[in-house]
Amino acid sequence: ADHYAVIGNPIAHSKSPVIHAAFARQTRQHMDYGRILGNLDDFAGDVRRFVAEGGRGLNVTVPFKEQAFALLEDLSPRAEAAGAVNTIVVRDGGLLRGDNTDGVGLVRDLVSNHGIGIAGRRVLLLGAGGAARGVLQPLLEQGPAALQIANRTAAKAVELAELAVGFTADAHVRGSGLDGLDGQAFDLIINATSSGLAGDVPAIPDDCLADGGSIYDLLYGDVPTPFCRWGAARGAARILDGLGMLVEQAAESFLLWRGVRPDTAPVIAMLRGGGT
Ligand code: ATR
Repeated sequence: ADHYAVIGNPIAHSKSPVIHAAFARQTRQHMDYGRILGNLDDFAGDVRRFVAEGGRGLNVTVPFKEQAFALLEDLSPRAEAAGAVNTIVVRDGGLLRGDNTDGVGLVRDLVSNHGIGIAGRRVLLLGAGGAARGVLQPLLEQGPAALQIANRTAAKAVELAELAVGFTADAHVRGSGLDGLDGQAFDLIINATSSGLAGDVPAIPDDCLADGGSIYDLLYGDVPTPFCRWGAARGAARILDGLGMLVEQAAESFLLWRGVRPDTAPVIAMLRGGGT
């Protein structure tokens, strides 16, 4: 069997092994997929050892995505744009290629799974850290009417917006602080901050969700996330957490490695507790 793994720190909670095992069964691929607790001081050594032992591919998760980006010389355009690598492909001969499937995973979950349009819509992206940067270019490629990046620290949002203009010349991208949203309304609000980990939500105006607008939280959990509760309290039409994105980014990685695209719907249902 071909060997794959996810590397992160911590890693015990990762759902990736369960997801990829389900994909492998479904598509009858002869492979296994483990988890590696990455050494905080020696990520490069961990990758080297995995490849030396015959590993064929890695998913990279917190806190190593930026380190993987710095380590690899061969990067896909979407990894370049994200400034981060979540998927490493070990090519024949042992050369490594870094890719990033997070953003395309988000777009597939929004558009394909839930029919939520981005094209022509006013989109608000909350946060300006690694998670926000990771999804920015794929969102812009959908052609939103406008994309505003708002962050607690305004300067980081402005910087990210400037970077985004480099992706698409005609991008209607703005960066601001959270207090720069007064009087504006958005059809889709995507939370890419880590505020939910502390049980918090970004301090945004109550009325910045347009009538009929939807919210998406990159975070997920067994109970509704703080930002999903924020959306529910404000009457969001659709309220989605990041579990679908997690499965979709995994499917894109699986496609890169195995050349087959698994069916994600049954795996999402399984993780939601809806079946086996
Ligand atoms: P990640 O990889 O999850 O993006 P990060 O790069 O540390 O992690 O970025 C965290 C993001 O969440 C930042 O945009 C941060 O805002 P600041 O740049 O102002 O620090 C945002 N964030 C974290 N806690 C937050 C909170 N309680 N309210 C609003 N934004 C928060």
